[in-house]
Amino acid sequence: MDSIDLRSDTVTWPTPEMREAMYQAEVGDDVYGEDPTINRLEELAARRLGKEAALFVSSGTQGNLIAVLAHCNRGDEMIVGQSSHTFINEVAGASALGGVSSYTIPIQQEGTLSLADIRAAIRDPRDIHYPTTRLVCLENTNGAVGGIPLSIQYTRSVGELCSECDLKLHIDGARIWNAAAAFGCDVKDLAAPADSISFCLSKGLCAPAGAILCGSCDFIERSRRLRKMLGGGMRQIGILAAAGIIAIEKMTKRLQTDHSNAKRLAEGLSDIPGIHLNMQQVQTNMIFFRLDESRSIDAAQMTAVLAREHNVRLDVTGPRSFRAVTHYWITAERIETALAAIRQVWEHA
Ligand SMILES: Cc1ncc(COP(=O)(O)O)c(C=O)c1O
Repeated sequence: MDSIDLRSDTVTWPTPEMREAMYQAEVGDDVYGEDPTINRLEELAARRLGKEAALFVSSGTQGNLIAVLAHCNRGDEMIVGQSSHTFINEVAGASALGGVSSYTIPIQQEGTLSLADIRAAIRDPRDIHYPTTRLVCLENTNGAVGGIPLSIQYTRSVGELCSECDLKLHIDGARIWNAAAAFGCDVKDLAAPADSISFCLSKGLCAPAGAILCGSCDFIERSRRLRKMLGGGMRQIGILAAAGIIAIEKMTKRLQTDHSNAKRLAEGLSDIPGIHLNMQQVQTNMIFFRLDESRSIDAAQMTAVLAREHNVRLDVTGPRSFRAVTHYWITAERIETALAAIRQVWEHA
């Protein structure tokens, strides 16, 4: 990876160890349940997440969609954050393919959906005008507010509310291992209140593709059928599972390094006059920052110069704002190189 690519942790390449394991992987036809490596990955994932069963899916988006389809009937409703990935960035799959409507509520500064907002969004089941509220979706870590992790206590309180109101709880845990690393807790405790949880193997964990959906045996059985319906029944995917096993066993243990690098990048950026960010928000591997009006260069122009002249890539989130995400291929040394480049381009604009 020769550019310093901070646009996302989705840009990560598999590690040399993953490539070797993929080459050596024992495979079979997974639609017949005969791929030994995928079976090993699914057992490992279920055990680590503290759920009865797990299913390998093609992407985080597919995992979230299957969860919605498995929990809800057509005409049901789910309560979801207004700027959540599931609502904004998953092509409205829940409504297009599942006939499930989304009741959106604001995401708070700390990445949570307020309990009061969730409660207020639950429809009165006696009123025949309303859809049936069936599901609440949380996102941990929460990408919209800077990768903020949701705590065990908070997730438990949502789980209790869901049980009280006979609702299911799904967690889009694309980066749940980052949340566990940030709290220094067992990922099981973050997953425990949820009926289902998905997480990505392909982001900070470096696998080339895939995500995992976990839940009860009955839920996963329904999910396996739904995955097939969506065209996601795959064959010799032990090749991908081999990378996924390393992702879970090894890559989850090093995420704290990405978080320290993100802190260092954020500190360095906030030392540059004219660049602003909220250090409180930097809790995992994401940094959101913005330029003030003291220079005329905008975010699009700045990223173009950074890419062209310094091989540093940032994600533009607004006219004067950016996102940077640290990951396996961004070493502490590369953070310093990126910082020097950003400072130089900004100060000479
Ligand atoms: C919070 C969150 N959920 C789900 C996804 C979807 O993952 P995928 O790109 O594998 O579909 C992403 C992807 O960036 C994400 O950030």
